[in-house]
Amino acid sequence: MTQSIKFWAVVPAAGVGKRMNADRPKQYLELAGKTVIEHTLLRLLNADVFSAVAVAISEEDPFWPELEVSAHEKVITAAGGKERADSVLSALQSIRALASDDDWVLVHDAARPCITATDIRHLINSLENDEIGGILALSSHDTLKNVQGGSIAGTLDRSHIWRALTPQMFRYGLLKSALEAAEGNKAVTDEASALELQGWQPKIVEGRPDNIKITRPEDLALAQFYMEQQND
Ligand code: CTP
Ligand code: MG
Repeated sequence: MTQSIKFWAVVPAAGVGKRMNADRPKQYLELAGKTVIEHTLLRLLNADVFSAVAVAISEEDPFWPELEVSAHEKVITAAGGKERADSVLSALQSIRALASDDDWVLVHDAARPCITATDIRHLINSLENDEIGGILALSSHDTLKNVQGGSIAGTLDRSHIWRALTPQMFRYGLLKSALEAAEGNKAVTDEASALELQGWQPKIVEGRPDNIKITRPEDLALAQFYMEQQND
């Protein structure tokens, strides 16, 4: 009998949040009564689909052990790495003895606290029978320009351009080997790009525009606004 396929969440949370320009990494800033990372993790845990959530944390991070969620029975702490991809690989290694190659992994940025159970289920339902997997993404509403030296060199065909979000959902074995093969490659800024380098063509699943990434100071107020609007 084949073992049933499990779902794992991996959360890279070892960044310093340079663009946020705050006194601590952005995942520890307060948003609607909790830290950003607590919102993210509680939403993943409450979706009730994951066998565990592996979180990559910087070794110099004094904030993580202070949070109650760090001791949650389904939360596994892994060491963060130099780049986001290194952190994701480290979190994948931390569940190596638990996960099978065919299990699904959903990698989700700690800095995206507005993720909804609706979006998680939509991604899983869309890709569960796929061989490779894919990512949540948003089509672009704006007209997009190719700019060279401050001037417009052309207009891009918007119908082919999507913005990559997270979660990004791939088979454990394939994702791990793609990230290992891409180690040190700065062009790998998400999981899909590591698979693309191996010649795979991950699927696109349309996500919700409220699944924003906290990047700059003004994003906190926007995230709070979206959270107030959400009821799912
Ligand atoms: N991340 C990580 N390990 C790194 C770098 C980033 O786990 N070495 C995580 C961040 O904590 C974040 C996610 O990857 O949850 C997305 O990265 P980004 O938004 O770029 O966060 P930071 O790198 O912290 O921000 P900045 O680029 O502004 O410094
Ligand atoms: Mg970064």
